[in-house]
Amino acid sequence: MKFDNPATENPIDQLKVIGHPHDRVDGPLKTTGSAHYAYEWHKEAPDVAYGYIVGSAIARGRINAIDLRAAKNAPGVLAIVTADNAGRLGKGEMNAAKLLGGPDIEHYHQAIAVVVAETFEQARAAAALVEVHYRRERGAYSLAAEKPAVTTPPKGESDKTIGDFASAFSASAVQFDATYTTPDQSHMAMEPHASMAAWQGDKLTVWTSNQMIDWCRNELAKTLKLSKENVRVMSPYIGGGFGGKLFLRSDAVLAALAARAAKRPVKIALQRPLIANNTTHRPATIQRIRIGTDQNGQISAISHESWSGNLPGGTPETAVQQTELLYAGANRLTGLRLARLDLPEGNAMRAPGEAPGLMALEIAIDEIAEKAGMDPVEFRILNDTQVDPANPERHFSRRQLIECLRKGAEQFGWSQRNPQPAQLHDGRWMVGLGVAAGFRNNLVMQSAARVHLNADGVVTVETDMTDIGTGSYTIIAQTAAEMLGVPLDKVVVRLGDSDFPVSAGSGGQWGANSSTAGVYAACVKLREAVANKLGFDPDESLFADQQIRLGDRHAPLSEAAADGTISVEDSIEFGDLDKQYQQSTFAAHFVEVGVDRATGETRVRRMLAVCAAGRILNPKTARSQVIGAMTMGVGAALMEELAVDTRLGFFVNHDLAGYEVPVHADIPEQEVIFLEDNDPMSSPMKAKGVGELGLCGVSAAIANAVYNATGVRVRDYPVTLDKLLEGLPTVI
Ligand code: MOS
Repeated sequence: MKFDNPATENPIDQLKVIGHPHDRVDGPLKTTGSAHYAYEWHKEAPDVAYGYIVGSAIARGRINAIDLRAAKNAPGVLAIVTADNAGRLGKGEMNAAKLLGGPDIEHYHQAIAVVVAETFEQARAAAALVEVHYRRERGAYSLAAEKPAVTTPPKGESDKTIGDFASAFSASAVQFDATYTTPDQSHMAMEPHASMAAWQGDKLTVWTSNQMIDWCRNELAKTLKLSKENVRVMSPYIGGGFGGKLFLRSDAVLAALAARAAKRPVKIALQRPLIANNTTHRPATIQRIRIGTDQNGQISAISHESWSGNLPGGTPETAVQQTELLYAGANRLTGLRLARLDLPEGNAMRAPGEAPGLMALEIAIDEIAEKAGMDPVEFRILNDTQVDPANPERHFSRRQLIECLRKGAEQFGWSQRNPQPAQLHDGRWMVGLGVAAGFRNNLVMQSAARVHLNADGVVTVETDMTDIGTGSYTIIAQTAAEMLGVPLDKVVVRLGDSDFPVSAGSGGQWGANSSTAGVYAACVKLREAVANKLGFDPDESLFADQQIRLGDRHAPLSEAAADGTISVEDSIEFGDLDKQYQQSTFAAHFVEVGVDRATGETRVRRMLAVCAAGRILNPKTARSQVIGAMTMGVGAALMEELAVDTRLGFFVNHDLAGYEVPVHADIPEQEVIFLEDNDPMSSPMKAKGVGELGLCGVSAAIANAVYNATGVRVRDYPVTLDKLLEGLPTVI
C-alpha cells in the first residue's frame, strides 16, 4: 500500500481497541520467565558451547603476537578464533571499526579473540590465559583538545545559513553567547549484547538481541561473506536497546565464527565490563549557541554549532537539528564539526541529535529569556513557528508546542515560580522550577507484515518488527484486532524473525507508527480476501464482533477460512508527505528540584511531560515509554557520564557500579499528559513516535530548575554537586 495522500477516515478511527490502555500482551510471558531472551534458547541447542571475548588492552596500535598455547591447553577449550584464523571477513557498512580486530587495533576493547569452551567458566578462565603482545601508538582521545583544529563541516556536509546571522546577531538588542558540553554516555541496557549461533552446512541461524532484524541480517551476511538467504536472525524479545542494538555487533559475528570453528552451536554474552568500550556510545559534544533578540524578546538571530568526535568512518552527533525547526528567527546558522578520535565508535543512543542538542539549546533559551526579562514559557510561545524557518511554504503537519507549554504551565503551577533564583526554601532544600521544550522529528519507514486467518477465527500477524520493551506486540495486536473486528485474545503476534516480512524495526521512534501502518496495510488485504471469499463487497462491509456484515447479511469471519487458512502480505510505503510537510513531535517538560544547601545534592521532586505526538495507540504503553524517557533525562542531567582516560583512550567507568543511572529512589511521581493530536499526514494510523520525545528536553528542564533553585548556572553536564558547591550560599 502506497501512502501518498493524507489519511481519511478508516477502520482504525473506530477506536474500539486502538487508543485504549491495554496491558501488554507479552506481559505474562515476561513475568513467568517464558519469553526467551538472546542467551536463553536452551532447548534449541542442548549441545551449545560458550564463547568468551577478549578485548584489546590498547586503544590504538598493533598486535605483534598472540600466544594461544596456554589458553588452548586449558580445561574444556574447544577452539580459539582470532583474525589470524577466522578466514577472510567482509566489512559491514554500519560499523566504523572492525568487529574482530587485529593485527591493527582501532579502539580499546575491540574484540581480538573469542575462546570457546564446554562451559562459560572454562571459556572465561582460558580467555585470561591468552597472551597478547601489543605495540601501542598515540591516539586522539580528547574532544576538547582536538576541537580547535576542526573548523570545517564533515565531508559531504555544509553549514546551513539563512539570512545573515552575523550582522543580525551583532545588531540585536539582547545578545547571548555560551558554550555547553555533554559527556560521552553509554546505553547500559539491562540485557547485555548476546547471541547464539548455529550452523547447518552453510546456513547460519543467529538468536540475538537486535533492534533491526533486516539490518542485522544484511550486515552478518556481508561480514561473513554469505548470501543473505543463508542467514536467519531471530530476536523476539529484547531487554533494552537504547540504540546500542541498532547494529550488528561483535557478539553475533564472533558467535557465528566460534560456532563454525567449534562445529557446535555457541552462545556469547558480552561481559558487562566489555560493553561500554566494545560497543557504541553516545559521543560527547561541545556546543556553542548564540541567540539575538529585539527589545521584546523576538529572536532575530540564532546559531548552533556542535563539535563531536568519532573514529574514521563514524558519523557526527547531529545535535543541531532541532535548532533548525524549533524557533522562529529570520537569520540562522547551524553546523556540525567532526573531530577524529580514537575512542570506541560513537553512534545512535536514546534520541540521537535532539537529546544532547536540546540539553544545550533549552538551557540557552532559559538564559536568553532571563536576559530579555521574560518568563521562559512566554519566551518560547512568542518565538514559536508554524512553518519550517528554512522554507516558509512548508508547514508542520501538526504542531502543538504552544498548547503543550500552556497546558503544562497550568497543570504544574508554573505561576508559583519565583523568577528570581535561590529564593524558595523547604528546610535544607533550595527549591526551584524549570521548563524546557521537547522536540523530536517523526520519521517514517517502509514496513511489511503478513497476516493469517484460520478456521478458528484466529488472526496471526508476522513481521520482523522488534519489541525492545516498548510495547510493539501490544499495539500490533490492537491494530489487527481493530481492523478485523476481533477481540485481542483472537490475535497472535509473532515478531523478530527474519523469516517474516521486513518491518521498520525499532529505532528513531519510527517503529510504532510505521510498523502498525504496515500491519494496517496487510489487514486491508485480509479484509478484501475474506469479503471476496464470502461474497461480500469489500469496500462496503463492516468487520465487528468476529463477523463480516453488510446490511442484513452477516457471516462469521472464521467461515472464510473453513477450507484453509487465508494468508496475505502487504507493506506500507511512504510517499513524500513527510517532505511536503514537516513532521515532528512536541512536548513541554516541567520539573521541580530540591538542592541541598550544604552538600549541593540535587533531588528531583516533581516531573510533568505534556506531549503532542500524533494519535496515541495505547496510552498505557505510551506513558511507560515517556516515563522511562523522563528517567533517562534525569540520568543525563544529573549522573550519566563515561569518564575518558585521555592518556590511554578508554572509558574508565565501564560497568553499572561506576556508570551511574537513576534508580527508583531517584525518581519521583511522574505525570504524563497526551494532547489529542491525530496526524493524517503521518500514516493511516495517524500516529507518530513518542518514546524518544519523552527524553528530549528533560535534562535542560532539570538544569534550569537547578538554576532557579540555586542561582548557579551549570553548562557542563552532568550537573553534579561539585559544580554547584562553590556557588551555593554559605551555610551557617
Ligand atoms: Mo534509537 S537511539 O534510533 O534506537
